[in-house]
Amino acid sequence: MLNVETLSKSYRDINILNQLSFHVEPGEIIGLVGENGAGKSTLLQILATIAKPSNGTVTLNDLSYAKQYKEIRKWIGFVPQDVAIWEELTVEENMLFFEKLSWSNRTKDELKKLCIDMNLSKWTEPVKTLSGGMKRKLNLAISLIHQPKLLLLDEPTVGIDLKSRKEIGAYLKKQAKEHKVMVIYTSHDMDEIQDICHRVICIGNDPFYHNMLQKSGKEIISI
Ligand SMILES: Nc1ncnc2c1ncn2[C@@H]1O[C@H](COP(=O)(O)OP(=O)(O)O)[C@@H](O)[C@H]1O
Ligand SMILES: [Mg+2]
Repeated sequence: MLNVETLSKSYRDINILNQLSFHVEPGEIIGLVGENGAGKSTLLQILATIAKPSNGTVTLNDLSYAKQYKEIRKWIGFVPQDVAIWEELTVEENMLFFEKLSWSNRTKDELKKLCIDMNLSKWTEPVKTLSGGMKRKLNLAISLIHQPKLLLLDEPTVGIDLKSRKEIGAYLKKQAKEHKVMVIYTSHDMDEIQDICHRVICIGNDPFYHNMLQKSGKEIISI
């Protein structure tokens, strides 16, 4: 379980996140919504151990973010807002490269299966020839190499075709259900949030998001 208690974050004296508390159970998919600049990426960066909170405590399966972040990193998969892969290398070479950097030992067949499960069938093509949707899938596949228990995705479906969006959504649901992965992901697409998420965290007071969520009938985590 991921447990966040009274988490705050300021940059210099500007308060971005203010006393957030929530928890996520294994197998849950949590949507993270809010207007631009609300602090969604900041929250994901903190949960990915890349940024430190100014105040509050975070634990993952009873491991403390403040004290045991090196251990925690083994359990986290993070896909930042900007795609981060080697454009000149093939899909295969990217997967092999990131496998070496990871904490796990996966065979080439296992790596290939990860891509195929996501409907990314290109294996020997250079990444620069792939569509935006395929690059996103590859980035997601890379984040899953070490079989994380907490998957953090920053706008994984922005700017990609509908088919890829649906495939990524279906894949996330499968991961959560079959492997009890906790997924937190940001999106501006309310239909997608409605389709995929169990609960939704709404950051900020923008009434637009609150109204949309109330109409959707989703459980809103008030923070
Ligand atoms: N490293 C940083 N230093 C100073 N301010 C930052 C930094 N990162 C983000 N911010 C500010 O924090 C606010 C929230 O940003 P962000 O988390 O990227 O929002 P969102 O992802 O919801 O659009 C913005 O006002 C942004 O300018
Ligand atoms: Mg952002």
